[in-house]
Amino acid sequence: MARALELAARGVGGVEPNPLVGAVVLDAAGRLVGEGWHQRFGGPHAEVFALAAAGESARGGTLFVTLEPCCHHGQTPPCTDAVLASGIARVVVAMADPFPRVNGGGLAILRRAGLVVDVGVLESQARALNAAYLTLLGTGRPWVLAKWAMTLDGKLATRTGDSKWVSNAACRARVHDLRGRVDAVIVGRGTVAADDPLLTARPPGPRTPARVVVCGSGDLPPACQLTATARESPVLVYTSAANAGKLAAWAAAGAEVVGLPGGDNALSPAAILDDLGRRRFTRVLVEGGAKLLGAFHDAGAIDETWAFVAPKLFGGLAAPGPVGGRGVAAVTDARPPVSTAVEILGDNVLIRSVFTAS
Ligand SMILES: NC(=O)c1ccc[n+]([C@@H]2O[C@H](COP(=O)([O-])OP(=O)(O)OC[C@H]3O[C@@H](n4cnc5c(N)ncnc54)[C@H](OP(=O)(O)O)[C@@H]3O)[C@@H](O)[C@H]2O)c1
Repeated sequence: MARALELAARGVGGVEPNPLVGAVVLDAAGRLVGEGWHQRFGGPHAEVFALAAAGESARGGTLFVTLEPCCHHGQTPPCTDAVLASGIARVVVAMADPFPRVNGGGLAILRRAGLVVDVGVLESQARALNAAYLTLLGTGRPWVLAKWAMTLDGKLATRTGDSKWVSNAACRARVHDLRGRVDAVIVGRGTVAADDPLLTARPPGPRTPARVVVCGSGDLPPACQLTATARESPVLVYTSAANAGKLAAWAAAGAEVVGLPGGDNALSPAAILDDLGRRRFTRVLVEGGAKLLGAFHDAGAIDETWAFVAPKLFGGLAAPGPVGGRGVAAVTDARPPVSTAVEILGDNVLIRSVFTAS
C-alpha cells in the first residue's frame, strides 16, 4: 500500500478535481506483477493500468488500491467491472471514497461477488494524500496553499519593497513546479503594482493555473504583464461589486472580473474560495503579499504553508513579514500543524506544514 500511495502522488496536478489513486497487483504467489496510477483527469483509473500490466497473472491475486474502486460510469467505465473481469481474489483498500456516486458502493459490489475486501490499510496517509479532494468534496472550497520566501529575520521584501530575489534558484524552480500543479495562483493588488508578475509556471506543468488578483478597490494598473497575456492563459480579478466598473480595461484585455457583494473593499476569503470551488478548483496557491496572506490567515483559510527561508538579513521594522492582517493575540492561539516536513535546497530551507486535518 505504501508503494501504491507513492504511485498515486505522481498524479498531483494531472488528475484534479478527481482524486489521486495508485494501485499495485500481487499474483497468487505474492509477486508484484502490476502497478498503475491515475495520471490525468478523464484518463483510465489506477486499477485499470495495474490490472492491464498484470494481465493473466492477476488471477487469484491481490489488488492494493489507495481508494475504493469506483462503481459508476463517469469519464470511464466502472473499475469494479475491471477488477471482477481480472480474476483478482482479494482487494485491499486504504480508504472508502466519499464521492456520492461511490460511497461504499464499490466495496459492496466486490464483496457480493465473493472477493475478500479489506479496508483501512494506511488510511490516514491516504486521507492526507487526498486532503484537497476531500476538502472540495466536503466543503465546496479548494485546499489553500500559502507560499512565501523570507529572510532569516522573517522579511518578504526590504524596507523599500525590493524583493527580487529573496530565495535561491532551486527554491524558485520548486515554486514554478508547484504553480504548474495547482488550479490558481492568487496575489493581492500590492504585488501586481510592485512586481508586475506573470504568475505562470515556467516551464509549464501538467496544469495551467488561473492567475488571480484580489483587489477590493479595483485600482489596478490598466496595463501590465497580466493584462498583456490574459488571452493566453486565464486571468481572474476579484473586486467589490461596487468597483467592478473600474476594471473595464482588464475585462477588455480578456480578464474575467468578478464583483463580490459587500459594503467595503475588504472581500471575504470565504466568498472568494466559494467562487473558486464552484469552478471545481481543487488546490489554489496564495503567493502574497502580506496583506492578502493576512486576510486568509485571519479567516482561518490557510490549509498548508510552504515557507522558503534564505540566509539573508534585511532588517528594518518597516520591511514586511510574510503574514499581515490582525494576527493572533496569544502564542497558544496559533494553530498547531498536523504535520511538518523540512527540505534543504542548497543554502535555503523549505518548511512545509499542513494545518488542516483530513
Ligand atoms: N517574498 C515573497 O515571497 C513575496 C511574495 C509576494 C509579494 N511579495 C512582496 O510583497 C509586497 C506586496 O505586498 P502587500 O502586502 O503590500 O500587498 P498584497 O497583499 O499583494 O496586496 C494588498 C492589496 O491586495 C488587495 N487585497 C488583499 N486582501 C484583500 C481582501 N481581503 N479584500 C480585498 N482586497 C484585498 C487590496 O487591494 P486594494 O487596496 O486595491 O483593495 C490590498 O491593498 C511587494 O513588495 C512584493 O514584492 C513578496
